Amino acid sequence: MKPTALITGASSGIGYELAKLFAKSGYALIIVARSETKLQQLKDELKDYPVSIIVQDLSKQGATEELYNKVREKGRTVEVLVNNAGFGLNGQFDEILLRDQQAMLQVNIMALTELTHYFLPDMKNSRMNGVPRGVINVASTAAFQPGPRMAVYYASKAYVLSFSEALVEEFKGTGVSVTALCPGATETKFFETANAEGTRLTERMMSPKQVANEGFIGFVKGKRIVIPGKMNRSMALAAKFMPRSTSAKLAHYMDQ
Ligand SMILES: NC(=O)c1ccc[n+]([C@@H]2O[C@H](COP(=O)([O-])OP(=O)(O)OC[C@H]3O[C@@H](n4cnc5c(N)ncnc54)[C@H](OP(=O)(O)O)[C@@H]3O)[C@@H](O)[C@H]2O)c1
Repeated sequence: MKPTALITGASSGIGYELAKLFAKSGYALIIVARSETKLQQLKDELKDYPVSIIVQDLSKQGATEELYNKVREKGRTVEVLVNNAGFGLNGQFDEILLRDQQAMLQVNIMALTELTHYFLPDMKNSRMNGVPRGVINVASTAAFQPGPRMAVYYASKAYVLSFSEALVEEFKGTGVSVTALCPGATETKFFETANAEGTRLTERMMSPKQVANEGFIGFVKGKRIVIPGKMNRSMALAAKFMPRSTSAKLAHYMDQ
């Protein structure tokens, strides 16, 4: 029997690429997103591999419990959870609709936390020794600094990073590893969704395939944090030594 990887936000971008890597590395997939058509496209592309689709809107209250129950009803346990679904919103904080910011927090933080809570016990108890087990939480280089005009998004990713680093320590020695994948600007639908097209952030982007590759390899090696790309690693390092006010100014400049 194959181990299972459940990937949220697998209908496009980084999640789509991660799903292909897990399938080709011997995992059966459960792919999750709102767009059934796009999930079906991925399933068709991976026709030689076992792929199950679950359509779920993770911004809805109770969605994660529903998702967990659907997985149980299929008689499946999950060895790898990839909390990738997420989005950003660009604009002045008080001008972005509160309900949109709440939905973002629900997906980026609450769903990620709840799914980790539901699936971790199964991972700990899994008898699939010898295969990498654990969680990849997709954070961002945004996690390392405050982000004017994307204030809530940057803060949500700081949560994801901090949460993941704490779990790494808690689950040491259990066979369950936790990796925070922190991409910089990546060529996906993200900037269109965030209304941030044309900002300096989009001047230099990595491909989602490169990001997924580095994330996958890092997870398999049991790395705590993976920052894909040399430039992104240097920027994240620089942010550590910079005053937070300077780093916020820099992020503001990049968002124009
Ligand atoms: N692109 C970047 O520059 C960048 C940089 C750092 C971090 N990230 C992070 O990388 C992750 C993936 O984003 P991406 O860049 O690959 O962007 P993307 O192409 O827009 O993909 C986002 C994925 O999340 C899913 N999603 C969004 N809202 C959802 C909801 N309410 N319920 C279920 N699924 C939902 C989308 O599927 P549906 O629309 O079909 O639901 C889609 O599959 C996100 O967490 C993002 O914050 C991106």
